[in-house]
Amino acid sequence: MGMGDPLVIRTAAEMSAWSSAAHARGERIAFVPTMGALHEGHVVLLRDGRRRADRLALSIFVNPTQFGPREDLACYPRDLPGDLAKAAGAGTDVAFVPEVGDIYPAGFQTTVEVGELARGLDGPFRPGHFAGVATVVAKLFNIVRPDLAIFGEKDFQQLAIVRRLVADLAMGIEIIGVPTVREGDGLAMSSRNAYLTTAERVRAVSLSRALFAARDRAAAGEGDAAALLETARAALDVDRLDYLELCDVDTLVPVTRVDRPTVLAVAAFIGRTRLIDNVRIGS
Ligand code: PAJ
Repeated sequence: MGMGDPLVIRTAAEMSAWSSAAHARGERIAFVPTMGALHEGHVVLLRDGRRRADRLALSIFVNPTQFGPREDLACYPRDLPGDLAKAAGAGTDVAFVPEVGDIYPAGFQTTVEVGELARGLDGPFRPGHFAGVATVVAKLFNIVRPDLAIFGEKDFQQLAIVRRLVADLAMGIEIIGVPTVREGDGLAMSSRNAYLTTAERVRAVSLSRALFAARDRAAAGEGDAAALLETARAALDVDRLDYLELCDVDTLVPVTRVDRPTVLAVAAFIGRTRLIDNVRIGS
C-alpha cells in the first residue's frame, strides 16, 4: 500500500469497481477530494487519510460548476505529474482523475441546493459556488463511496457545508477537518498562491497577520467583535476586501461578542488573485 505511484483511474465506473473490491475485502477507504495543483496542505490531508484507513483515494478534478463566469477556471493551475509524485509520497493508493464529461454528461440536470450556511461569507461573492461544490462532492462520494473523507479548515465554510450535506442527506460518511497548513511566514497554502507576483506575495501575508493580530487581542481579553475586526482591518494590505467577519463556528452567522467559539474569516484580492483565510477565536 502506498508504494510507488498511485493507480490512476479515469472513469467513474472503474473507480466504483475499485471501491467495491476494497470494501469486499473489508477495507476502509479514506478519500481526499481536490482540484489538483497539490501543495503541502493537500499532502497533510492525504497523510491524515493514510493513517485513518486501509485504502487512500484522492480525486483531482477542476470542477467547472463551482467557478463563476469571471473566475479563474481557464487558468486554474494544473500539474498531473507533479500531483501524482506528491500523492505517491503521501501513500495514496488511487488517484481518480475524471474528465468533465464523465462527471457532467449530456443531460445532467440535478443540483444540490445549500441553505443558510451558503448565505454569508463567500456566498454573496460567489453565486452558485457552494451549490457547485455540494453537487460535485455528493457525486464524488457516490462514485468513490468512502468511509471517511478529509477536508481542510482553510475552506471553513466549505467544510461546514460538507458536514451539513452528509448529515442532511444521510450519506453515512465520516467527515474529518484538518487545521490550515501555512507557509513559514503564516500565509495559508493555496493553489492560487501560484498566481502571486513577488511583490504581491509580500502583501499576501497581511491576511494571516491580520487574523493573528485579532486572535492575540482576543486572547489578551478583548471580547468585542467590532474592536477585534478593527484590529484585523488595520493590518490588512489588500487591493479589495470582500469580507472580514467574525462568525459563530457552527452557524457562520456574525456575532457581536466572542462569548462562544467563533471563526474570524477574510476574503480579499491581492492584485487579481482572490485569497481566503480564517482563524478560530474563543474556545
Ligand atoms: P482544493 O482547493 O484543491 O482543496 C482540496 C482540499 O484541500 C480542501 O478540503 C481544502 O480545504 C484543502 N486545503 C487547501 N489548502 C489547504 C491548506 N493550506 N491547509 C489545509 N487544507 C487545505 O476545495 C476544493 O479543492 C474543492 O472545492 C473540492 C472540495 C475538491 C470540490 O471541488
